Amino acid sequence: MTSPRSFWLAGREATGETTLTVTSPWTGRPVDQVSVPTDDQVEEAVAAAHAVREEFSATPAHVRAAALDHVSKRLVERTEEIAQLISAENGKPIKWARGEVRRSVSVFRFAAEEARRFNSGEAQRLDTDVAGQGRLALTRRFPKGVVLGITPFNFPLNQCAHKVAPAIAAGAPIILKPAPNTPLSALVLGDLLAETDLPEGAWSVLPVANDRMPALVQDERLPVISFTGSERVGYAIMDSVPRKHCTLELGGNGAAVVLGDFTSDEDLDRAADRIATFSNYQGGQSCISVQRVIADAAVYDRLLPRIVAAVEAQVTGDPADDRTDVGPLVSEDAASRVESWVDEAVGAGATLYTGGKRERASYAPTVLADVPADTTLACEEVFGPVLTVLKVSGETEAFAAVNDSKYGLQTGVFTRDLRAAFRAHRALEVGGVVIGDVPSYRADQMPYGGVKQSGVGREGVKFAMDDYTYERVLILTDLAL
Ligand code: SIN
Repeated sequence: MTSPRSFWLAGREATGETTLTVTSPWTGRPVDQVSVPTDDQVEEAVAAAHAVREEFSATPAHVRAAALDHVSKRLVERTEEIAQLISAENGKPIKWARGEVRRSVSVFRFAAEEARRFNSGEAQRLDTDVAGQGRLALTRRFPKGVVLGITPFNFPLNQCAHKVAPAIAAGAPIILKPAPNTPLSALVLGDLLAETDLPEGAWSVLPVANDRMPALVQDERLPVISFTGSERVGYAIMDSVPRKHCTLELGGNGAAVVLGDFTSDEDLDRAADRIATFSNYQGGQSCISVQRVIADAAVYDRLLPRIVAAVEAQVTGDPADDRTDVGPLVSEDAASRVESWVDEAVGAGATLYTGGKRERASYAPTVLADVPADTTLACEEVFGPVLTVLKVSGETEAFAAVNDSKYGLQTGVFTRDLRAAFRAHRALEVGGVVIGDVPSYRADQMPYGGVKQSGVGREGVKFAMDDYTYERVLILTDLAL
């Protein structure tokens, strides 16, 4: 038996007294054993992060930028190996795993660029009022303190990149707690950070179990919590620490609206192809995967068969195979839950067009219509390869259907009408509206996050840096302005 994979404690490699097993969702066999930090080791990491916070905040921009550039470059060099690790621990098809590494390369590069730009300050003359004569305000941003980053399984590398890279760019120490079923990619990120000159304590990667998190969440030395995961856990965290700064990236039930002007055969083929791909990518385990299609009656009858055909064309199977589009879900439990929601909807009168079958952790790409509004599938985030299709009459009804949800993360609107695009932007209660594509489009430098039960705060490198810092104003007096 090989020794367990170590974790990263204040920039140093360490092992604890117990281990956790990472299991492949596809084979059901162990991928690796990971050493788990003891309570004392967690305390050591938190104390080190707290102790280094002022020094780290004052680290020159070129030092932080060089470290971030280094990680970006090393991710390029190790893309294939890391993609295989993501695929093994998460079950993600290898082609999507490669895409995830490429995104993380960009996240670290964007963060290096932002680190160089950040905190040059904004000058504001105050002599616009007699009381401010001769005075100038210089506003700069400073870290709120140590960030506790808590990440989910669905993007085991890139979700970590979105917590760690902005923290380093802003000069905020970070304790990263990856998902217990996918900690290996986060630990490799630690390997790359360990090659840099960042000060001891500036970062740790601690694969602690979820049931040990309440103590860490309560720790006053960790004033910022950046959580990505379920609505239930996210709000439980926020409610337990109402005085802390919490960023919550939670669920969604992404809608793709197809308006009546998106009508040529070419348009509908494209919409169907994008919808089929992005309701199934990562087995639908993305907060912005397409869960709902809301189609105008003018295109519905021509769109639905195209969607069904495109979904049936998705290649399912072994995530290690280059041809595979859809692999297993993260666990058999996850697939069983999806199965029960679809069965409930069908039992309540929904029409099943394709899919609806489970084999161990895999669930077949599924399309349903006529889903009753009070079913779990219609109300909750399915986080699986399942699509529901709804017919509406006109734009107003389409936008109302999007908003008739407790979630509000991103929406895609297929239209060629620029005015309709602006009306969508105004009407839709979501964090992002994607015109001409599915809700699943995300550029890692843009603001990303939701409204309603989809969360609070924004990620996207620069926006997370704003989130981790606060304005501190310097007022200069007696100046010749
Ligand atoms: C998420 O599931 O919220 C992340 C989606 C993405 O980064 O593409």
